Amino acid sequence: MNPGLALCHPYPFEKLAQLKQGIVVPNNKSAINLSIGEPAHETPAFIRDALFEHIKGLGTYPTTKGLLTLRQAIASWLCARFNLPLTSIDPETQVLPVSGTREALFSIAQCVVDASRAKGGLKPVVIMPNPFYQIYEGAALLAGAEPYFLNTTEASGYLPDFDSVPEAIWQRCQLIYICSPGNPSGSVLPQSEQEKLIKLAENYDFIIAFDECYSELYDDEDNPPVGLLQTAFGVGNTAFKRCLVFHSLSKRSNAPGLRSGFVAGDAEILKSYFLYRTYQGCAMPLPTQQASIRAWQDEGHVLENRKLYRAKFAAVIDVLGKVCDIHKPVAGFYLWLKTSIPDTDFAQNLFAKENVTVLPGSYLSRDFGGINPGQYHVRIALVAPLADCIEAAHRIKNFINTLT
Ligand SMILES: Cc1ncc(COP(=O)(O)O)c(C=O)c1O
Repeated sequence: MNPGLALCHPYPFEKLAQLKQGIVVPNNKSAINLSIGEPAHETPAFIRDALFEHIKGLGTYPTTKGLLTLRQAIASWLCARFNLPLTSIDPETQVLPVSGTREALFSIAQCVVDASRAKGGLKPVVIMPNPFYQIYEGAALLAGAEPYFLNTTEASGYLPDFDSVPEAIWQRCQLIYICSPGNPSGSVLPQSEQEKLIKLAENYDFIIAFDECYSELYDDEDNPPVGLLQTAFGVGNTAFKRCLVFHSLSKRSNAPGLRSGFVAGDAEILKSYFLYRTYQGCAMPLPTQQASIRAWQDEGHVLENRKLYRAKFAAVIDVLGKVCDIHKPVAGFYLWLKTSIPDTDFAQNLFAKENVTVLPGSYLSRDFGGINPGQYHVRIALVAPLADCIEAAHRIKNFINTLT
């Protein structure tokens, strides 16, 4: 067996199922689940229609590289969204379709980490935020690397602090995962920090895997989250050296079951990653590619999607703001709520008393540097219908009132 497997943690939702096991919930309260980050707004009809229109494509093996028309649609979207000159992204060499970003975020580590390049008998390092999307950690472990965590706390604005990383860790670093906007906090890594990261990557020769899968769910229409390719281009790294961005239709277009996303950036890395992917075999089915083209070419439905989340945040914060210190995130669909009691107790008792499920923050994080930055937080995913989110907010408020 791959020795990294023994180091992989159970997934947060397995831990949550155990936490809830055997608990009898009040039978007069319907279940509201705000723990899982699965978008639940309806998938736009035009995306479903495109899938059916092209259903005959199931009769053909898709290629790993995907249709040129898909890569062109993606490149055009990237340029428009991130204020890049129209021809700055080459669909031939700088874009690859992926079957959702989850598999891509995992497989990129398997492709780029060179465990034989261990320094001083020590494993290569993959840096990631803490709390994090757990795939980053599993990917690092299974690639034979050692994860190094960047604690993101309230004091740091829930952002990683690159200055805190010891020189010896940068020396061993081959890959860094950054999630911006972040899961779970929704914080966006400012442009100046992105510039710093690009410089660090250049100095220490590592690759940046920048997970932007929440980048389209932002609050301020006039201020969309800045992306890594935009920053790279701005500092003259017009070939996006060492930079890869990961985007998905799951959250942007409410199509988590489509399994469609892309990776874009450094052509040299993507050339190797393309070779890797031909063996891995995650080619995107043709009907999915056609539906994805339509989705990337339309912004109207994304605007509507943002409106729905904005309404939910406003309503929920209106209720919860009366009993706790709560902030609207810049982006994403999570509330990262501080708790006055241990997060696991909060989640378990909230479930027992109010039949509302939220995710303990410590299930998304590790003890590192003497703290666990997920502790005393819960993640509340505003994915349920508006009425359910409001009902859940009232129940959470009632529950918080019992704690004081
Ligand atoms: C931070 C982050 N990255 C990536 C993903 C994967 O999304 P998908 O595989 O649907 O593109 C998720 C899903 O929840 C996520 O939260």
